[in-house]
Amino acid sequence: MKNKNDDLIVGIDIGSSKIIVVISEIDDTGNISIIGVGKADSKNGIKGGVIINIESVVSAINEALEVAEIQAGREVKSVFVGFSAGNIETINSKGIVAISGVDKEIREIDINRVIDAAKAVAIPMDKEILHIIPQGFTVDGQAGIKYPIGMVGTRLECQIHILTSPISSIQNVLKCMDRAGLEIRDIVLQNLSAGRACLAEDEKELGVLLLDFGAETVKASVYYQQAPFYNAIYPLGGYLITNDLAMGLKIPFATAEKLKVAFGVTHYGYVDEEETVQIPTVGGRSPKLLARVNLIHIIKPRVEEILNIVKEDLKEKGFFDKISGGIVLTGGTSMLPGIVDVCQEVFDIQTRLGVPHKFSGLGDQLNSPEYSVANGLVLWGYERVNKTTDMATRGKKDDGNKRGFLKVIKNFFDDLF
Ligand SMILES: Nc1ncnc2c1ncn2[C@@H]1O[C@H](COP(=O)(O)OP(=O)(O)OP(=O)(O)O)[C@@H](O)[C@H]1O
Ligand SMILES: [Mg+2]
Repeated sequence: MKNKNDDLIVGIDIGSSKIIVVISEIDDTGNISIIGVGKADSKNGIKGGVIINIESVVSAINEALEVAEIQAGREVKSVFVGFSAGNIETINSKGIVAISGVDKEIREIDINRVIDAAKAVAIPMDKEILHIIPQGFTVDGQAGIKYPIGMVGTRLECQIHILTSPISSIQNVLKCMDRAGLEIRDIVLQNLSAGRACLAEDEKELGVLLLDFGAETVKASVYYQQAPFYNAIYPLGGYLITNDLAMGLKIPFATAEKLKVAFGVTHYGYVDEEETVQIPTVGGRSPKLLARVNLIHIIKPRVEEILNIVKEDLKEKGFFDKISGGIVLTGGTSMLPGIVDVCQEVFDIQTRLGVPHKFSGLGDQLNSPEYSVANGLVLWGYERVNKTTDMATRGKKDDGNKRGFLKVIKNFFDDLF
C-alpha cells in the first residue's frame, strides 16, 4: 500500500444498522471517483443513532475501513464523519452590528463580528455547537442578501442556524476515530450530508423537507431561501417496522428483516392481489403462505404513525407551512415500495425519492438512498478540500474551540457566496 496521505477524501457514515467507509479521489479527467467502499454491521454499537458501545463501533469501523482500503489500494489517514446524536437542538439567531470602516464598506471582519453577535446565545453547559450556518444578511434594512462583502451600509444584520449536540456524543465519536487511528477533518451532522447529496438548489430555495428514514432514526431537515432552518433526529426507523412484522407474523427479528427487505410493501398500488409470500416458521415446521398484500396491513400503519409524528412536530415548531415545495425521502427505509405515496398522503405534499448523485469509478455502489449520507460526505469533503477545519479543538469550550468554529463558518460562507 502507498503511504497514508491526505489527497483522498474519505467519508464515514456511522449509522444504526451499518457503518460505511467511502474512499474517493480526483481522477485523470478531474471528476470525483470512488475508489473504495466498505460496509460493516453496526447493530451492537449504535442505538437510535447514538454510540452505545465504543469497542463495537471501533471494530465495525476497522472492518469497513479494511474492505475499503484493500479495494482502493490506499491507506486512509483522515476522514469526514457523518454524525448523529440523540438530542440535537437547533436555534435560529440574529446578530446586528454597525459597519466599522470609514468608507462603510462591508468587509470579512464585519461578517465575523455579526456572526459573533448572532451566536452569542445561551448554549447549555452539556451542549456544544456543531454547525453554524448563515441563512442570510440584511444591509440597512434590505433583507435577503447572500453576499454582503463589498456592499456599502451602516448596519449589518445576519441570521444564522445554530446546531448543537450533547458534548458527550461528540466526544464518543472523537474517541472512536482516535481508537481507529483516524484523524477527523470535519464532523458533519448526517441530516446535512444527506441534504448535500439529495437536494436540488431550487428545492432549497422554495422550501423542502428532507427525511432520511434509516434503521433507528428519522432525520428531518427543513430548508428555505437556500438555508436550513430546522433539523431534528427522531428515534424512529425501519427496525420498528421489522419488529411489527416479527410480532405480527411470530417470526424471529432477523427473518422479519429479510422478509421486509425482499417483499415489504406499503401501498396497494405496488402489489398484485394474487401474490403470496412464504413465511418461514420456527421449530422445523413447513413455511406458511401469506398474501403479500397482508404485509401492507402491518407496515403501512407504522409508516403512517412515524410520518405523522414528524408532521406534528413540524406543525408545532412552525415549519410545516414552509415545505410546500416538496418532500424528499431518502435512507434505507425509503426503498420500501410505496413509501413515497404514503408520505404524500400523510403530508398532502408532493414527495420524491432522494437518490444521491452518481460518481465515477465505483460510484454505482453508492447510487442508492441508503448511501445518501456517505455520498454527501464526499461532496462536503471536496468543497472543503483546500481549507482547514480545525476539528482537533472540538470538545473543548475555549478560545481554540471558537477559532476552530470560525474556520468552519468561513467554509459555510463558501456554500452561500
Ligand atoms: N429494500 C428495502 N426495503 C425496505 N427496507 C429496507 C430496504 N433496504 C434497507 N431497508 C431498511 O433500511 C434500514 C437501514 O437504513 P439506513 O442504512 O439508512 O440506516 P442507518 O443509516 O444504518 O441507520 P440510522 O440512519 O437510523 O442511524 C433498515 O431498517 C433496513 O431494514
Ligand atoms: Mg443513516
